[in-house]
Amino acid sequence: MRSALLAWYDATRRALPWRAPPGVRPDPWAVLVSEVMLQQTTAATVARRFPLFVQRFPTPAALAGSSLEEVLVAWQGLGYYRRARSLHACAQRLVAEHDGRVPDSLDALRALPGLGAYTAAAVAAIAFDRPVLPVDGNVARVGARLLGLALPADRVRAPVAAGLAPLAHGERPGDVAQALMELGALVCRPRAPSCSCCPVRAYCRAAGSGRARDIPARPSRRAVPVRSTMAFFLRRADGAILFRRRPDDVPLGGMIELPSSPWGEERSLDEHLAHAPAPGPWEPLPGEVRHRFTHFELRVRLARGTAGVAASGLWLAPEALSAVPVPTLTRKLLARLGVVVPHRGR
Ligand code: ADE
Repeated sequence: MRSALLAWYDATRRALPWRAPPGVRPDPWAVLVSEVMLQQTTAATVARRFPLFVQRFPTPAALAGSSLEEVLVAWQGLGYYRRARSLHACAQRLVAEHDGRVPDSLDALRALPGLGAYTAAAVAAIAFDRPVLPVDGNVARVGARLLGLALPADRVRAPVAAGLAPLAHGERPGDVAQALMELGALVCRPRAPSCSCCPVRAYCRAAGSGRARDIPARPSRRAVPVRSTMAFFLRRADGAILFRRRPDDVPLGGMIELPSSPWGEERSLDEHLAHAPAPGPWEPLPGEVRHRFTHFELRVRLARGTAGVAASGLWLAPEALSAVPVPTLTRKLLARLGVVVPHRGR
């Protein structure tokens, strides 16, 4: 199986900017940087951003000697900026404790800031041909199918690491790891695996029993609870809109919102209107705005008050909203009402 996999990789591998040409040892620093980038950013985006980044910071010393600000600016477009901070700390550790070089043992790599089990294993295998198998999302899926593990995707990593470990004990562990990643990216795709082009189909339990599509099992989508509310839109003749500030100890605490009825069970129009910030008449608008929080979905109906209705509260002109914290939910509601909130600093 290892030979089939490596032969396929040699013939099909993509020339990605962080990959050394066949037979050439890669620069361990470039491998480390690419693996940190690839943790949460797509290969296509990394392929665009990586060359400039390593040109700007060609060694751990170059990055360690730059300010965090410079590193963050160079990281723009890659997202998850916490990784740029850890990479800066990592480079400083490499300079302070490893002579400015990337260490070649799994334990020393694992001890570096920002390197988890996967990234340390990936650098050990790809940069130093250590006999370890890094299991990222692609490798987990490929492994689950090869081994016929009909488990949910979030439970396959450990059994895959154990089941595929023997593959790393032999020739070219770094290329074995990259071949499995490549297989996951090009052939053993999540929804539509191309089993007919697969170099290791003969060894695959899932393909053998026609179950490749169903492995790993899809995580069950739990129905989330729904809460409902009505938000009240009141605008003065001078353009100011009535808002209020949320209490500190609730979701979106301290942020600005339209006055609303309490978030809760589905209620009648009259029950909602009992919480209006001013006497009516109120004109309920058709439809509702849905917003997903981590643990529930909020469905918001909107009611528009008549101009001239008096109410006390936080009256803000739309231009003033760039200076206060306005949550996405409130922005969505205002957009539905035709009011665009300027973003701070944009
Ligand atoms: N994803 C994470 N590491 C990768 C690598 N070295 N090659 C391709 N995709 C990857």
